[in-house]
Amino acid sequence: MDILQPILYIIAFALFIYGLSGLTGPRTAVRGNVIAGIGMAIALVTVLLTVHHNWLWIIIGLVLGTILGVPSARNVKMTQMPQMVALFNGVGGGAVALIAWSEFLATPGFQGRAVAFVIASLFSAVIGSISFWGSLIAFGKLQEIVSSSPIGLGKLQQVVNVLLLAGAIVCAVIAGLGNTSQLWIVLVLVLAGVLGVMVVLPIGGADMPVVISLLNAMTGLAAAAAGLALNNTAMMVAGMIVGASGSILTNQMAVAMNRTIPSIIVGGFGGASVAGGGDDGDKTVKSTSAADAAIQMAYANRVIVVPGYGMAVAQAQHAVKDMAKLLEAKGVDVKFAIHPVAGRMPGHMNVLLAEAEVSYDNLKEMDEINDDFSRTDVTLVIGANDVTNPAARNDPSSPIHGMPILNVDESNNVIVLKRSMSSGFAGIENPLFFQDNTSMLFGDAKGSVEGVTEELKQL
Ligand code: TAP
Repeated sequence: MDILQPILYIIAFALFIYGLSGLTGPRTAVRGNVIAGIGMAIALVTVLLTVHHNWLWIIIGLVLGTILGVPSARNVKMTQMPQMVALFNGVGGGAVALIAWSEFLATPGFQGRAVAFVIASLFSAVIGSISFWGSLIAFGKLQEIVSSSPIGLGKLQQVVNVLLLAGAIVCAVIAGLGNTSQLWIVLVLVLAGVLGVMVVLPIGGADMPVVISLLNAMTGLAAAAAGLALNNTAMMVAGMIVGASGSILTNQMAVAMNRTIPSIIVGGFGGASVAGGGDDGDKTVKSTSAADAAIQMAYANRVIVVPGYGMAVAQAQHAVKDMAKLLEAKGVDVKFAIHPVAGRMPGHMNVLLAEAEVSYDNLKEMDEINDDFSRTDVTLVIGANDVTNPAARNDPSSPIHGMPILNVDESNNVIVLKRSMSSGFAGIENPLFFQDNTSMLFGDAKGSVEGVTEELKQL
């Protein structure tokens, strides 16, 4: 087994990395996930075969994990995916924190362990506990168990957070200096846990996907540190992969929203409405009917569909697919324009449209399709708002100024499907809705799309 172990680990790592590369596109994502899963199974079996364990506890853990994990992962709705990820990530962070605690008890007090081992263990205790409790709050906010509005201590918040972090570090140093009393390691876990709660509570619910991605990266780093402490290569490599990919994802989301990660952590954006939200003043909007929308699109050469968060809420993806098929049967060129932060989680629109079996060839990323809007007869905006807001390009005073958007406003005609004039995530007005070439089809996106499809069938 001594020779076999590194070979099996290398196979597992190769599968992790190959699987991860598959997650870069919807066409290969499912396969990538399966490949990385096989890698994880190999790593897990290798660990179980090479280390002496109490099999009873391991079997109990496996059975409990399977009973809780498999049905929840199978039954989760696509709109609830961010909170599911938060919960699973939090459990990972909690496991890492418990490993540090159990190592403290087993040694006891890390006696006889190298300094690097002690530092890595305490690091994983702090970060793992922050990640566990922070993720639970993130889950609670998205599940609306906890208010999604920012909850904080105002100006005191930063001071309290710094004190909590300093307290956790001081207790960690005491615990690491060979003190065998459990009090200090428990204090480390408690203070870091309260810090996790305090950091996430003031952040608005709508910013949670970015926060979850950040916590996910932290869990990865904590797991890598625990791997270092336990001298377990599999944990180190898997942890670093999660840490690195989570950090890149967090950064990409922040860039696509034109926000900095610190500004997200400080909170105050989203959740509560920002000034100007939904105010349509004395400007006029044109409303249209399903019949008119159907006629406009049926006689168009080229239609671009722009899906957004509202399509996810309405679960309109299957209806959209049926409508697109009908239009294509009438000779219309139909493409889907996907903004990187449309919806509420990375790849939200891709996942929904893939579930409805929309051809991947018809899904176009923002950079790929943005120049085509000016040559498009009709752009159909389905429950998207911020990602189409021309103020991001034209109005330097707009809170989203600088955020890259889809150039929907350049299209010859725009039809917007939403229920009201309410604002989107950023809480600001969208001038697109008041343009001469825009008409609004008010109603739930699924009902509206089905209405258009019925009308198309009559043409
Ligand atoms: P939003 O700007 O949030 O707008 C969604 C619109 O959908 C709302 O204006 C809403 O208007 C409409 N809507 C809601 N339910 C609907 C239903 N059942 N039928 C029809 N319409 C419905 O969405 P977006 O354009 O996709 O932009 C995403 C926003 O989320 C961006 O600001 C982005 O920065 C932010 N964000 C994204 C992510 C990721 S990773 N995707 C993470 C965090 C934040 P009505 O209420 O009038 O219907």
